[in-house]
Amino acid sequence: MAEVSLLIHDLGAAVSPKGWGPLRGRDLGELDIHAPASVAISGGRITAIGRPEEVMREMRSGADFETVDGRGKVALPGLIDCHAHAAFVGDRAAEFELRSRGASYEELHAAGGGILSTVSATRAASEEELKAAVERHLSWMLEHGTLTAEAKSGYGLDRETELKSLRAIREAGGDHPVDVHPTFLGAHTVPPEFSGAAEYAEFVVRDVLPDAVPLADAADVFLERGSFEVPEARRFLGACADHGLALRLHADQFSERGAIPLAIELGARSVDHLENTGEDGARLLARSDVAAVLLPACGLFLDLPLPPARLLVEEGAIVALATDFNPGSSFCESLPLIMNLACTRLGLSPAEALSACTANAAHVLALSDVGRLAPGYRADVLVLDAPDWRHLAYHLGGDRFAAKIKAGRLLD
Ligand code: NIG
Ligand code: FE
Repeated sequence: MAEVSLLIHDLGAAVSPKGWGPLRGRDLGELDIHAPASVAISGGRITAIGRPEEVMREMRSGADFETVDGRGKVALPGLIDCHAHAAFVGDRAAEFELRSRGASYEELHAAGGGILSTVSATRAASEEELKAAVERHLSWMLEHGTLTAEAKSGYGLDRETELKSLRAIREAGGDHPVDVHPTFLGAHTVPPEFSGAAEYAEFVVRDVLPDAVPLADAADVFLERGSFEVPEARRFLGACADHGLALRLHADQFSERGAIPLAIELGARSVDHLENTGEDGARLLARSDVAAVLLPACGLFLDLPLPPARLLVEEGAIVALATDFNPGSSFCESLPLIMNLACTRLGLSPAEALSACTANAAHVLALSDVGRLAPGYRADVLVLDAPDWRHLAYHLGGDRFAAKIKAGRLLD
């Protein structure tokens, strides 16, 4: 009999993606729905989930434990944001206004604004200021049910600020309930000190990467006109792989230029964006082990075409969803909002959207013990104050949580 530390009892339902590992095709929309349900937690892990009387039977009677009243509510796995740019200071509200008057994101970038304006602000910030900014961004995410998040560097693009960003991410994550997984986005764009992408890529590989490696889990590149083309992306990512980092790519956001074959060649973990991916690229990606991370808030924010989400799912790709939280192309930290956009604009069902930002997002971050509610999984649990779990995607901007539990601990 297990020593229970927390019991969520008499839930209307507890809902989880099925199985284990990444989910493809039809499996993406398959859920385990326990209704009614209780969830028992011990030592930060889920020990039992199922009908309330069965869970009670497995528990030691008389033991002291905390309880959460689940009546009229539903439990879901903590959400996982597998693509987020959390390490920046300042904002781009003025640029947002310019775009509202017709300026395009790519024009602003080419004129030295866009990403580079956030680079200037981030370079000027102290490590403490940057850490405080990361903490603030993580707290915004937590409000919307994100309990695990990626955080990219990429607004330094010099040695000092890239390393400062990765340290700030790690320090902020150490003190915060949201678990943070740092990604070295050393190849976000080419800073003004360099004459071209090839020269900058050599600098990053030689002078920044060796010290970034111990601070990061993964590396990322923005493969796009105006940033990096395939040869420089291959050089950067190849060196990162040699140092043991997992590989991610920002790809096909504005134009298709060979990112998917490169990602497959290098055994990357994911390609992200895909708003301009054609049918052939989608089929190629679907047949590979490289995940497709879709970022519908970015598409909405920049009025991009829709990624081929349905084709990717039906052809068997590992489809994940994320916010792409950043100050320029997606100032959005809410995964429930992303789930809504996935259902209303990308043709995913609520079940597919849930698995895409839990089980499959965990896979993108190489995590095997989060993203599901099942015995042995870490007890990262959301209790939604709604009669039906689908309200998480359905209630537009109305994600109301009765409780959030991180590694078995009830958060305030
Ligand atoms: O994922 N496209 C490149 N990077 C980010 C945007 C960064 C920014 O505009 O600050 C993205 O959209
Ligand atoms: Fe991004």
